Amino acid sequence: MKISLIGYMGSGKSTVGKELSQLLAYKFIDLDTYLVSKYGKSIQELFKTEGEIKFRKYEHESLKEIIESEESFILALGGGTPAYYNNMDLINQNTHSIYLRLTPKELIERLKNEKSTRPLLAHLNEAEMPEFIAKHLFERRNFYEQAKSVVEVKKKDTEEISKEIFSMLPLPK
Ligand code: S3P
Repeated sequence: MKISLIGYMGSGKSTVGKELSQLLAYKFIDLDTYLVSKYGKSIQELFKTEGEIKFRKYEHESLKEIIESEESFILALGGGTPAYYNNMDLINQNTHSIYLRLTPKELIERLKNEKSTRPLLAHLNEAEMPEFIAKHLFERRNFYEQAKSVVEVKKKDTEEISKEIFSMLPLPK
């Protein structure tokens, strides 16, 4: 079975993905990490040297490669992946997609100290973060909400979220 985790930056896709891959004994793939090893550049460098438009193209091509090449996996997508090309259709046609949902307030709190590695947030000061994140999430939520399942992250820890996802998967009996 192919499982994908979607959600805004800081929603815990990679952390939950790793834990879930152990529960299910499935391979874990992180789309950002895949891009970094494929192009030999960090995400920040890719944005800086190639620009966001090229980054989105690389992201789309890599998504297709992963979907086509593997049998069972847990795939943590980038926060923007569902919002470009026909990615959300590809994701839903080929994987069981799960949206890790948090409120803007919860995301702002989580992202306050984590923005330096994220090119879309790195230039913002603390006062600018709330409005940016609220607007950005509003633009993206129509894509995220198309996921097949939704988990309300709230204050749950990684193990709790992983078990919740495990129980909602249509796994063969
Ligand atoms: C992005 C999210 C990042 C990364 C890139 C762009 C986005 O992934 O792909 O910085 O557009 O939301 P994470 O969601 O893993 O931080």
